[in-house]
Amino acid sequence: MSENIMTYETVDLSDDDEGVIIIDQTRLPGKVEMIRLRTAQEIWDAIYLLKVRGAPAIGVAAAFGIYVLARQIAEEEKEFSGFYKRFRKQKEYLDSARPTAVNLTWALNRMDKVCRKAHEDGNDVPKIVEILGREAREIKEEDVRVCRAIGEYGLSLVKPGDGILTHCNAGQLATCKYGTATAPIYLGQERGYRFRVFADETRPLLQGARLTAYELHSAGVDVTLICDNMSGMVMKNGWVNAVFVGCDRVAANGDVANKIGTSVVAAVAKQYGIPFYVCAPTSTIDLDTPTGAEITIEQRPAEEVTEMWYKERMAPEGVKVFNPAFDVTDHELITAIVTEHGIARAPFTESLKKYK
Ligand code: MRU
Repeated sequence: MSENIMTYETVDLSDDDEGVIIIDQTRLPGKVEMIRLRTAQEIWDAIYLLKVRGAPAIGVAAAFGIYVLARQIAEEEKEFSGFYKRFRKQKEYLDSARPTAVNLTWALNRMDKVCRKAHEDGNDVPKIVEILGREAREIKEEDVRVCRAIGEYGLSLVKPGDGILTHCNAGQLATCKYGTATAPIYLGQERGYRFRVFADETRPLLQGARLTAYELHSAGVDVTLICDNMSGMVMKNGWVNAVFVGCDRVAANGDVANKIGTSVVAAVAKQYGIPFYVCAPTSTIDLDTPTGAEITIEQRPAEEVTEMWYKERMAPEGVKVFNPAFDVTDHELITAIVTEHGIARAPFTESLKKYK
């Protein structure tokens, strides 16, 4: 069995509060390497290059990141106006790293709001920075509680011995503990449910193979890795009782953006009458976005499809490549959206408002 990745923190603050510490997920599963991010450029790059990835983990990394940067700004700017101007600039810069996961904007807006409130309450810049540190830590702790609650609700939807299929990595590596889509699996594992999990490899960046298969296997879960184009067969064979996936943004009507390929899994699940569950912390629900059509889908470099992971290029030079990182699953294909406050079902326009 591989090293138990569950004992590592996906995202953390360094002991001196001067850096963000992450597991470099681009090195997994071959190497567990912790790296320290100190500058705005390093934090931005780590998010863009998927060294830290998964909607909740990106949010926590951004919250710690803006706190670390606020400490640096406070060394030079003693007055709030100068401090806040630079704080806002760095906040907007970090927010530009990836467009689809709303948690990035959500966490940065939350830090911004706390910053302004602390100023309005009469605090000076050093005290504001201290308050920002507390908030960033709270965002992380909250993520652990939220994932566990999602796990409890998710577990109520399945039974011991069930086959579960998941896509991409909505696991511990995408959060601070338990994951979202994997939380029911980990809680079930603690309680002897003996699930049989199928992990889609998730082309082109292989989050399913490199991360989900890795973390579940290292935690002792019965996990079988499949290529993305095998999920139809696995479902048709009757090996899957439920699909659990994570998400990057839930629109007000229940349309969901998640890793590219998710919508295909949802359509196949519907064909075979298998429930399709989306696990979503309420921080991922964006009621300001009416439908999936308004969600910005990140486009990524062609090389991720044509050459990354291969020994040599596997596509003709100059061929056109389409490489969206996410797709939108229509709400009609979704059986339920599992939040930390409860299980939302159609009509989502009503139920999501209740849980948000
Ligand atoms: O591009 P990634 O690896 O950041 O995409 C991650 C996903 O699509 C996850 O399913 C989603 O962020 C939910 S993580 C709990």
